[in-house]
Amino acid sequence: MDTVLPPGDDARTEADLDPDFDFWAGIERLRRERNAVILAHFYQDPEIQDLADFVGDSLDLSRKAAATDADVIAFCGVRFMAEVAKILSPEKIVILPDAEAGCSLEEGCPPGRFRRFREAHPDHLVITYINCSAEVKAQSDIIVTSTNAEHIIRQIPEDQPILFAPDRHLGAYLSRKTGREMTLWPGACIVHDRFSERELIKLKTRHPDARVAAHPECQESILRHADHVGSTRSILDYVLGHPAEEFIIATERHLIHQMEKAAPHKTFIPAPGADGSCSCADCPFMELNTVEKLYLALDNLAPRVEISEPMRLGALRPLERMLDMSPRPSPAHLVAAE
Ligand code: 13P
Ligand code: SF4
Repeated sequence: MDTVLPPGDDARTEADLDPDFDFWAGIERLRRERNAVILAHFYQDPEIQDLADFVGDSLDLSRKAAATDADVIAFCGVRFMAEVAKILSPEKIVILPDAEAGCSLEEGCPPGRFRRFREAHPDHLVITYINCSAEVKAQSDIIVTSTNAEHIIRQIPEDQPILFAPDRHLGAYLSRKTGREMTLWPGACIVHDRFSERELIKLKTRHPDARVAAHPECQESILRHADHVGSTRSILDYVLGHPAEEFIIATERHLIHQMEKAAPHKTFIPAPGADGSCSCADCPFMELNTVEKLYLALDNLAPRVEISEPMRLGALRPLERMLDMSPRPSPAHLVAAE
């Protein structure tokens, strides 16, 4: 089901703009005129991160979306994140710079197949990673992010069987951490799935003092070499708080932008793919958003997220359970971008 409405036929496009147009100044003007807040995920292009009002991980950004008093939320991230903003703040206009900014985990978990998976396990509690469509959320009992998943699963009674979807690597990691057996949906992220253990070992040999930090969407063969495993936010906190000078980062490479800004004296090396390069660590969905498209989205107020009220209410319930069961946020995680 389409939840992002494209711009209308009368909307302005890049072709209508002067080639010398100053998009940054245009965004500043529209941000004020529209009373808009710009939220950006850590995987966005550095230019977008630097002009955003808040930069964060999935959990930080959903909390920000729920609390903002802006009239417009310009969500620089992927579709499921913008949907969460609309589910939590239905009275706001939520725009996404590129309507095609999806996620391989969402694509790999279509609502019809998910319903059959659920129906085949009627006595299971359905815990679903936030990287899924609003329609899949509406069929779930509790939503989790990589920041709060372990904390939430530890609150579920021991004898309650659990289904976990859609990321099998995150699910397997959580099973190992909590000792809970879970039935896993067989999905994976195309970015985190591509890191190579062989190349990582070679890189570690060349940088013996480097610490490895990895996102739990990586395969177990990568996680077993990690000194720290966690969400984008926790990886950032880890490298900034650790005395080491060199880190290998096994997640989407644009997170490194915040690390280099906050700790310019440290060295951050993107984890390699099978060809020994880090070119695999770009999220092709996140990179669809550009400064130019952000300007046009603020101008046209489109692409715009619209979710039917029954689906929104269905997805709101497991999201509210997530927010209720999450650890309290540290105030430092809600600070504005510079
Ligand atoms: P975080 O919740 O850690 O920000 O991760 C989101 C994501 O899409 C990871 O690929
Ligand atoms: Fe989805 Fe992977 Fe991109 Fe995250 S990095 S948004 S999980 S495709």
